[in-house]
Amino acid sequence: MTIKALFIGALAANTVYAITSNVTVPPGAVYIDPLTYNVLGPNSTWYAARNLSSAVGFNPTNTTSPFIQVFDPSFLSILGPSPTFRLIASNPGFAFAHEAPIYDAGNNLLFFSSNDGGPLGYNGWYNNSVVSFLNMSEVDEAIEAASPGADVNVQITTLDLSDTVQMVNGGTGLYKGNLLFVTSGRALLPPSIVLVNPNPPYNTTVLLDNFLGRQFNSLNDVKILPGTDIIFFTDPTYGYINKFRPEPMMPSQVYRFDPSTGQVRVVADQFTEPNGIAFTADGRTAFVTDTGGGTYPSTIYQFDVDPATQSFMNRRVFAYADSGAPDGIQLDTMGNVFAGCGEGTHVWNPEGTLIGKFFINSTTAEMMFTKSGLVILDEERMYLVDIVAQGMNLGTM
Ligand SMILES: *[C@@H]1O[C@H](CO)[C@@H](O)[C@H](O)[C@H]1NC(C)=O
Ligand SMILES: *[C@@H]1O[C@H](CO)[C@@H](O)[C@H](O)[C@H]1NC(C)=O
Ligand SMILES: *[C@@H]1O[C@H](CO)[C@@H](O)[C@H](O)[C@H]1NC(C)=O
Ligand SMILES: *[C@@H]1O[C@H](CO)[C@@H](O)[C@H](O)[C@H]1NC(C)=O
Ligand SMILES: *[C@@H]1O[C@H](CO)[C@@H](O)[C@H](O)[C@H]1NC(C)=O
Ligand SMILES: *[C@@H]1O[C@H](CO)[C@@H](O)[C@H](O)[C@H]1NC(C)=O
Ligand SMILES: *[C@@H]1O[C@H](CO)[C@@H](O)[C@H](O)[C@H]1NC(C)=O
Ligand SMILES: *[C@@H]1O[C@H](CO)[C@@H](O)[C@H](O)[C@H]1NC(C)=O
Repeated sequence: MTIKALFIGALAANTVYAITSNVTVPPGAVYIDPLTYNVLGPNSTWYAARNLSSAVGFNPTNTTSPFIQVFDPSFLSILGPSPTFRLIASNPGFAFAHEAPIYDAGNNLLFFSSNDGGPLGYNGWYNNSVVSFLNMSEVDEAIEAASPGADVNVQITTLDLSDTVQMVNGGTGLYKGNLLFVTSGRALLPPSIVLVNPNPPYNTTVLLDNFLGRQFNSLNDVKILPGTDIIFFTDPTYGYINKFRPEPMMPSQVYRFDPSTGQVRVVADQFTEPNGIAFTADGRTAFVTDTGGGTYPSTIYQFDVDPATQSFMNRRVFAYADSGAPDGIQLDTMGNVFAGCGEGTHVWNPEGTLIGKFFINSTTAEMMFTKSGLVILDEERMYLVDIVAQGMNLGTM
């Protein structure tokens, strides 16, 4: 269905006026004009619904998931004319698609990890999680063969990795041709940064597994500072919270690791649970999500990267998520910020204005741009939405 909407927008400070053109929203999308919902009145049913659980999304049009919410007309240029939103892989009962997405464009494979420590992950103190890949060429072929807009279900391939890789939770790359993962560790086995060969036999090399003799708590996510081969990673306490790691022994912090010198140091602290991490393409700005939740932060913090030291400075709030907490975070080539939240993927423009959501009515931790579109990891399911926005380059030579 194509919906015509008249936009009333605030285009400049202190000036509110009507945009004198109609905007056409593509099929599968709805426009949610913020002005329509600024005043809900005392009897709104939303207060009770959203008070019960912050993961209940705001879906005032009652549209059936999955669908796209447009909060600002600028989101249309991210979507393009026909953003088909479909399931591409599904395995009810097993949370096979949680986090650590790495897109190997050369092989057209998307690697990712299963849920570690959470329900339906089938792991914990005694059991490891798994890393798999989805062959995006097979996804393209299945979509081509299916009727227009139909869901497909492509089989994933699970890797048989070395026992040194325990509870993968974050990933990025390719890093010098390799998958770069951070692991949360398991029981007394240490969290680590590991390289994995993206081709058989998927052999691994551990780069780091301690901070001057102390184990990390449970490493969560990782990015490379653009233009360098320096690795930045977060260390929250989810291993302990999810009962597969002992008590934390260090604060929840963000670290910088230079593999060429072996030096590791803290670049930011004062988080509840530092989680996703990302940089702008120019390497001058960093983002760290905090999944504290409830009345603790569900917040994306923004920092300047000190050009001299690469420490994070000038911390400020970039965005607070209205649903769930922002987990994994990715930027497109225009600097728009995508994060996995309570009921799908939220998208903010570079100023921190919420401009749209990919609404799936389920908590999503991560997503990744591929040549076929944006893949959203939804634990027991994977979705593909073939938007025109492209992901920024995450790799290093
Ligand atoms: C919107 O489009 C309709 C026809 O599709 C037209 O009648 C109307 O004047 C347009 N409104 C504006 C504000 O351009
Ligand atoms: C809210 O509900 C109460 C009780 O039903 C009613 O008396 C009141 O008029 C309603 N308020 C509004 C603004 O609709
Ligand atoms: C929200 O939930 C809390 C705890 O359940 C309750 O005390 C409070 O009255 C609720 N607030 C509203 C506006 O429903
Ligand atoms: C959505 O559903 C609720 C509950 O059934 C109803 O009160 C509300 O009017 C519906 N909203 C729209 C826009 O259809
Ligand atoms: C470990 O995995 C096995 C299957 O591989 C499963 O039967 C068992 O319940 C798992 N144990 C835990 C603690 O998750
Ligand atoms: C991925 O699928 C393509 C097309 O079916 C195939 O040629 C290729 O060998 C597959 N790659 C892997 C690693 O399975
Ligand atoms: C995998 O093994 C090959 C051959 O020994 C080696 O060149 C490569 O560095 C290894 N890769 C990793 C990530 O360990
Ligand atoms: C979201 O899922 C819940 C159950 O988990 C269901 O009750 C609700 O109707 C769904 N909402 C939408 C908008 O699909």
